[in-house]
Amino acid sequence: MQTLRLKVDATDLDSETSRQAIARAAQILRGGGTVAFPTETVYGLGANALDAEAVQKIFVAKERPSWDPLIVHISERTMLERVAAEVTAETRRVVDQLSRAFWPGPLTILLPRGAEIPALVTAGLEKVAVRMPAHPVTRALLLEAGVPIAAPSANRFGRISPTTAEHVAEDLNTRIDAILDGGETTYGVESTVVDVQEQACVILRAGVITFEQLGSVSQRDVRFHNQPDAAEAGKAAPAPGMGERHYAPQARLVLVEGVWPGGVELAMMDAVNRLEEEGEVVGAMAVGGFMGALTALRKKEFDMRGFTMGYNAVHVYPWGSGEKPEELAKKLYAGLRWLDAAGVTAIVCPLPEPAGIGVAIRDRLTRAAQRSP
Ligand code: TXA
Ligand code: MG
Repeated sequence: MQTLRLKVDATDLDSETSRQAIARAAQILRGGGTVAFPTETVYGLGANALDAEAVQKIFVAKERPSWDPLIVHISERTMLERVAAEVTAETRRVVDQLSRAFWPGPLTILLPRGAEIPALVTAGLEKVAVRMPAHPVTRALLLEAGVPIAAPSANRFGRISPTTAEHVAEDLNTRIDAILDGGETTYGVESTVVDVQEQACVILRAGVITFEQLGSVSQRDVRFHNQPDAAEAGKAAPAPGMGERHYAPQARLVLVEGVWPGGVELAMMDAVNRLEEEGEVVGAMAVGGFMGALTALRKKEFDMRGFTMGYNAVHVYPWGSGEKPEELAKKLYAGLRWLDAAGVTAIVCPLPEPAGIGVAIRDRLTRAAQRSP
């Protein structure tokens, strides 16, 4: 299958090129095809959510198991009635509050599945995950297509989510009908998935919208379900599609906990040295003063032992500043992909502090570091 590349300028949707690209992508979606497109979180791989045959193509292209349900993307509130069924008055109240505060945006809400949504979309579950994206290109595409779009992240199953059209092509070229290239995504990690239950809001996947934000808007108890990082890890049953290795680079991922800033660089150096001794080609997701620490410490070894040391053979990806977790989120997946492409066999990566969007980054890294079953 030939994968069409469609360029769209997110800052100029009225240009002739942008309009044609959106129109073509929408036409493919309406015709039952698959299109990858940018959102504010990561790129999604979309198909008409009302067309089971079209949705099936997503599972085939991604090699995604049929037990892992998809998120349905909508352009406006009226579409909600098409995709979701009735809820109790109390649930409705909380859903209204959350959607008013965070839609359009990176929040996915679980609701009873509407009759028009094929069971394939939710992997047979009673509830459907719904999100109204904020990215101008996604909104334009949804409006033009006129149907709800089922879309998981546009990567092969278990791999790293894509934040550029190039990343999508690496995983899915020749497997899908088109890629709508609207540049780099905004946040770099996925939406928060929340289940609004009678008593509490349960976060099934940490994401851009934080625990604190959900609590202050809903005025309810908020808790995490089966975060591998949480104290309760291992006690609860996994949410669908969330228990296994995910978001993973090809290289072995070694996570480092440290005191930010300062202490983390030293913990990273320890890990780098240990892995090199084990014969690994090492890459590092560098934060703050890591480059300085690496250069200084290697310089000392170099002076002492001379050329026999594998001096500075570490592949370093400049990840960002530990004080700016938003920056770390944005570059997380690009960095892991970059180090994979550099041919490293092990990646040393520090875990950001578990606050705000740092919770989502830790969640992804912890899943990515799990060994294959
Ligand atoms: O930011 C995002 O959410 C991106 C963009 C494209 O919107 N989408 C995304 O989709 O990350 P995906 O399929 O890669 O991840 C969605 C997660 C999956 O782990 C899936 O198991 C969970 O949401 N999920 C979807 N529907 C669900 C349901 N009905 N019940 C429980 N979990 C569900
Ligand atoms: Mg995904």
